[in-house]
Order: sequence, then C-alpha cells, then structure tokens
Amino acid sequence: MQNARIVGPGRAGRALAQALVAAGWTVEPLVGRGDDLTGAAEGVDLLVIATPDGAVAEVAAAVRPVASTVVAHLAGSLGLDVLAPHGRRASVHPLVSLAGDGAAARLRGAWFAVAGDPVARDVVAALEGHAVEVPDDQRVAYHAAACVASNHLVALLGQAERIAASAGVPLEAYLDLVRGTVENVAALGPAAALTGPVARGDWATVDRHLAALDPSERPTYEAMASEAARLFRDPTGYAGQIAKKSAGIVVLDTIDGFRKAMEAERHGGRTVGLVPTMGYLHEGHASLIRAAARDNDVVAVTIFVNPLQFAANEDLSSYPRDLERDLRVAEGAGATHVFTPSTQEMYPGEVLTSINVAEVSEGLEGVSRPTHFAGVATVVAKLFAIAGPSKAYFGEKDWQQLQVVRRMAHDLSLPVEVIGCPIVREADGLAMSSRNVYLSSDERKAATVLHRALEAGAQDVAHARKVMAATVATEPLAVLDYAEVVETDTEHRLLIAARLGTTRLIDNTGVAK
Ligand code: PAJ
Repeated sequence: MQNARIVGPGRAGRALAQALVAAGWTVEPLVGRGDDLTGAAEGVDLLVIATPDGAVAEVAAAVRPVASTVVAHLAGSLGLDVLAPHGRRASVHPLVSLAGDGAAARLRGAWFAVAGDPVARDVVAALEGHAVEVPDDQRVAYHAAACVASNHLVALLGQAERIAASAGVPLEAYLDLVRGTVENVAALGPAAALTGPVARGDWATVDRHLAALDPSERPTYEAMASEAARLFRDPTGYAGQIAKKSAGIVVLDTIDGFRKAMEAERHGGRTVGLVPTMGYLHEGHASLIRAAARDNDVVAVTIFVNPLQFAANEDLSSYPRDLERDLRVAEGAGATHVFTPSTQEMYPGEVLTSINVAEVSEGLEGVSRPTHFAGVATVVAKLFAIAGPSKAYFGEKDWQQLQVVRRMAHDLSLPVEVIGCPIVREADGLAMSSRNVYLSSDERKAATVLHRALEAGAQDVAHARKVMAATVATEPLAVLDYAEVVETDTEHRLLIAARLGTTRLIDNTGVAK
C-alpha cells in the first residue's frame, strides 16, 4: 500500500498527507468537499475521508465505489457503517491532538485506534505508530475516554488557570507540575500517582479549599475530589490495597507497648517493615511508607525528633511538628502502626551507650556535624531492637546516613535488611525535606540551586566538584558547605550541602559508572 488520496484539506487531512509523504507514500492532491468526488476512489489504493465527523457519511456516499480501493475515515467516534456503500472499509483514529503546529510530526510514533481492513494497520506501520484494534461496538466508549484524557484535562486546566489567577499566580507556574504528574501517571498508573490531600485522607484541607473557592468553582472541585477518592479506594488498584491494609492505624507511645505490638504481629506470622522518621511527614516519607507497605504485612512508622543527633547550635527545639497531620499521611500511605515516644520515654536518664560507625560517619556531613551520625546510629539501633523489623526503609536523600545505618546493621549482625529508597523531589527539583518550611519565599526559589548543581555536575563527572561549586556560586542567597564526589563500586555519588539563610540543605545524586 503506497498510494492514497485524502478528502478534506483541513488540519487532519493535511497532517496525514504530510506524514504519509514523509513515510514514502504517494499522496494524490487533496480534494475538498466542493470538488466532484465521484471518481475520488479511482487510481488509488486508499481513500481517506478526513472531513469533520458529521460529513463522513455524505462524502462516502458521493464517491463511486471501486472494488480494490479501501475507503477509510479518521473519526474517533464513528464506526465503519458510515462508509457505505464501499466494500473495503477501515478507520484510523490518531490519539494525538492535531491542534497547532507540527501536527504531522506528532502523528509519527503515535497511538491509533484501528478497525476494518488491515490497510489501517499499514498506515500506522508507515507512521511507526502503535495500533490498537477497537471494534465498532466499543468505539463510543473508546472515544469518550479520549475526550476525558484530552478535552476534560484541558477544561480542568482552565479551572486551575481561573483559580490561580484569583491568587495572582499565572497558569505557567503550574505547568511543570502538570507535566510531572502526567509522567508519574505514565510510570505508576493513576492510583499510585495520586498525591495531595485526598490521597492523604486530609478532608479538612479539602473543606478549606472548598470554602475559599468561588461558588461557581465548587461543583467541579468536589466532583474531582470524589473521583480522586474513588481512585484511592479502588480495591483493585495499588492505592486501594494500601488503603485496605491501613484501616485502623495503631498509635503507640511507650517502648513496651510498641515492642509487644510488634511481637504479636511477628508471632502471627506477619512481617514487619520499619520506617524511622522525625515527623512532619512529606511525600519523601510517604514513598518510604508505600515501599514498606508493598513488601510487608505490617508497617511501623516511628516519629521521634531524636535529641542525640542534634548539636547544641542546631534546630532541635524549632524542628517542625504536626502529629495529627503525620498520622493521616502515615495512614494514607499504608502504615499500620505509628510509634511516637516522648524524649523521656526514649531516654529516661543519661545515655552512656553510643554507636559510632567510624569512617563512614566522617567527611561530608561529619565535618560540620561530628556527633550527628553517632546519634542517628544509636537511635536507629534502639528502634531496631524495639520493633524487630525484617526490613527497614531509609531515603537516599540522606545518602551518608543510609551508608551509616547499613554498615551498622552489617557490623552488628542485626537481622534486618536495610533498604534505600530514591529521592522524592518537588516539581522544580528541590529535594523534599521537613526543613524546607524554614525557607523564605526567596530562599525557596534559590534552593533549587542544589539540584541544578547536581545536574550540572552529573554532566561532567570528572570536574563535578568544580562544576557544582560554580553553579552554587551563581546563586547569591546560597552559601556552599561542600560539593563532593564519592566513588562506590557501581557509581559516582555527587553530594552537596549549602546554606540558605539559616537553613542548611543537603542533596545528592548518583551517576552510574
Ligand atoms: P527524617 O529527616 O524525618 O527522614 C526520615 C527518612 O525519610 C530518612 O530515611 C530520609 O532519608 C527519608 N527522606 C527524607 N526526605 C526524603 C526525600 N525527599 N526523598 C526520599 N526520602 C526522604 O532521617 C531522619 O529523619 C533521622 O535521621 C532518622 C533516620 C529518623 C533517625 O532519627
């Protein structure tokens, strides 16, 4: 099949003609509806009717059938019946928006719904696209889904634009968030990609949003929040499974109570996954909890701002806390138990024992925080001893901490597998951290320089230290603490720490060897 004619010199017809010509097909001059269509099927193998949907049947009827010519349309919502009286019929509907420039280029490699004569698949193959067969009786549902995915998404972004404008923020500011969200849906599926108040079960925030919105915006907001909840509850979806698991979270604040609860779970044959945190939970913590919920029957999150790991001049007393919200986030992400001991409960008297993981704790963070990792290792060992987890989850965000905990578990033969989880970032690249709330709005903008420096360093690993330092130097609000590269068996780990005002932020990234 090499030879086609297209009726309908509109956007779709022109784009298809261009794309087919680029793929080596011969395309006869386009004809419009005003032309005499009687002989349009003559002398070609394929006649494509690319008119608006409502005109397809009329055009098909006006063309004299040629037994060897396939007649096809591009309409998403129409079946093959509209192509009567032609014998060989097909339809090829591209799942791409043909609005704007570059429509022909977007046809290449696109997804297409095809039906009827196998020629439809030849067209898709010529465009190096993906064909999915949609028989006539499923056509309408298929097309409705396409409208939701495209037109309704646009309608929602229209709403986002109006609401953002009422806060003086342009839609543009949200577009990276939109793109990132679409990428997450592609990678994880809709249920697992859902974040935000509904995913956390935070209906108080939903209520505050509704109260603040113009009444004309409320029905849509409400409808979408309930769609999100449906996604979250979907019993077949990943999030739904987690939601089921988390029904009835148990909150404990004594060591003895927590130990007994975990013992009971283990005796019942259930595996325990542990997620140690200092609270003020965000999506980074939630990702560890979700990973633990995937691997274990029981997921215990500990929330304890551990004084042992703070130096005298650090932010122990001002460390942000919000237990009520943390419980909702933990539960929403799949925790079954939360352990929130007081300092008195954890350290009733002087602590004479300290676990020091030499070498791994030195350098990097160890330079400006010489006692920090002994405090971390000691509390983590204590939490392992209380909970008896088979797996424990730590973020790569605190890469050196992960190495310290791993090495401690190894050296002390602790029966726990230490699992590292990838860094979760804001849409603009800033690694999520409980400490980000300390940043002023100017500092918050400047804070993306850490991630930008890592990205620049990753492009030029041989000079990464210099490149990272130079990038941070371009940001007047940021003061570099260190920019280092650590070699492991498998990768170069680029690590960076900088101060923005009084807030010290860290970040890192790996470059495979
Ligand atoms: P905290 O800072 O609350 O972090 C708890 C866990 O969440 C750590 O393992 C940390 O690496 C991980 N985490 C934080 N931000 C993350 C992000 N953006 N992406 C992925 N993971 C992230 O680290 C501590 O608490 C404490 O030192 C603790 C281990 C609990 C010991 O007190």
